[in-house]
Order: sequence, then structure tokens, then C-alpha cells
Amino acid sequence: MIEVSRLEKRYAGNHVLKGIDFHVRQSETVAIIGPSGSGKSTLIRCLNLLEQPSAGSIRIEHQQVHAGAISKKTIHALRQHTGMVFQAFNLFPHLTTLENVTQGLITVQRKSRTQAQEEGMHFLTKVGMAAKAQSYPAQLSGGQQQRVAIARTLAMQPKVLLMDEPTSALDPELVQEVLQVIRAIAQEAITTVIVTHELRFAQEVADRVMFIDGGKIIEFAPPAEIFQRPKQPRTALFLSKYLEAEYAI
Ligand SMILES: Nc1ncnc2c1ncn2[C@@H]1O[C@H](COP(=O)(O)OP(=O)(O)OP(=O)(O)O)[C@@H](O)[C@H]1O
Ligand SMILES: [Mg+2]
Repeated sequence: MIEVSRLEKRYAGNHVLKGIDFHVRQSETVAIIGPSGSGKSTLIRCLNLLEQPSAGSIRIEHQQVHAGAISKKTIHALRQHTGMVFQAFNLFPHLTTLENVTQGLITVQRKSRTQAQEEGMHFLTKVGMAAKAQSYPAQLSGGQQQRVAIARTLAMQPKVLLMDEPTSALDPELVQEVLQVIRAIAQEAITTVIVTHELRFAQEVADRVMFIDGGKIIEFAPPAEIFQRPKQPRTALFLSKYLEAEYAI
């Protein structure tokens, strides 16, 4: 479903991704973990060409992209398959919850308003936000806004769902309600890649966990292996530091 080979990303003198190779199977849920600045966001942003790769190639579904001059048409074609959820929810403040979800259906997918509203309500129900369909983002909590943002992305029915730390902008008491929604999505057929600092969540929900450090994949394996029997000392060190910090809270 996703195939990345020899992916590199440089910003001026900063070599951020240093040769990334992996594939993700259809319906798989992959969690990306790693220290701050290791290149997690850069990697997930390269997957839908929010960042242009400096070298290598990416294939999503049947759409193959090579680094170099990437046309708008190619970017558009690749994004047909992907949906992205960001740390900052990026809802349109002047649109209601339902309008936020139906906007892409109407303007991009050219669906009728009635059809879009029907589908929009379906996805809002899925994330437990149907009752707030007529509210504006400012009237919602951060967790509710993120659930709407997730519904908006799901409504476009992407083949691949990409999420970059979807809970890290939330107050701690709101994190669980969003993780609960993501947990339910992960159990469905959609292929999901999620960057997260919620290690316990990654352990519980992901089919495989990718540990990135210094712009390289250090280890990519099922959670039981990564968390209980890490092969690489760097993985073990990261986990011990991180889990220690989590216990300290
Ligand atoms: N637009 C940019 N221009 C220049 N350098 C950038 C840009 N975006 C990211 N970088 C650099 O790339 C490196 C990796 O950043 P990235 O955001 O991918 O890290 P991350 O693993 O997502 O970290 P965090 O856990 O803090 O979100 C950092 O050194 C960062 O400074
Ligand atoms: Mg990041």
C-alpha cells in the first residue's frame, strides 16, 4: 500500500532523512516513534508531498513519485489517496462542524449538498460529534475539535490516513477521548500511519512500530518486539528514558 525507498530530505545544509526504506501493508496501523528532531514529521509530510523529498521514491497505492521536479498533477494524484490529521486541528473557524466536514466533499469531490450532509453526519457520528454538527469550532473543546478534524479527513475516504501527533496539542484530560476514536479507526480497514509520543497507545494499537533516530529507521517491528525485546541499544535507551518519564508523571 505504501512503499518508500531510499528517501532522503535535506533542508539547506541540514540532512534530515538519511535513506529511509520501508513498506506498509494494506490495512496495517503503523506508529512512528522517536526523539524530538529525529525526522518523524518530515517523513510523514513527505508521504503526501507537503515536503518534497530530496532523493528516493514513494509509492502509495498505484501512484509512484520520484524525487525531483514533482508536478502539481502528481501531488494532486497522490493526495487523492491520503488524508492527513495535524497536531493543530486547522478547522475553518467560520464554518460549523458539519460544514467543515462537508466542504471537501462538495468542493473537491463534487457531491451534492444533501449527499455531503448525509455522509458528513455519518462520519461525525463515528467520532461521537453528531450532536455538535451545528456548533462552530470556537464552541468546542480541543478534543472535540480534533475529533471533527478526524471526521473531516475520514469523510474524504482516503486509502491512507496520516496523523502527526494528533493528541499532543491537547490538555491531558482530553487525550483519551481522541485516542479512543483513533483506536476504533485503527481497527477498520484503513491503512494508518501515526506519529505519536503516546508510547502505550502505540504499543496497544499499532501492528508495527517504527523507531526513528537521526533521520534513519533504527527498528521497525511489532510492538511486542520493540517494547519487550528491542534489538537495537538505541531503541532500548529511548524507551527506558521515555517510559521512565511517563511513570514520573
Ligand atoms: N522547514 C524546515 N526547514 C529547515 N529545517 C527543518 C524544517 N522542518 C524541519 N526541519 C529540521 O528537520 C529536523 C527534523 O524535524 P522534524 O520536525 O521532522 O522532527 P520530529 O521528529 O517530528 O520532532 P518532534 O518530535 O519535535 O515533532 C529538525 O532538525 C528540524 O529542525
Ligand atoms: Mg514532529
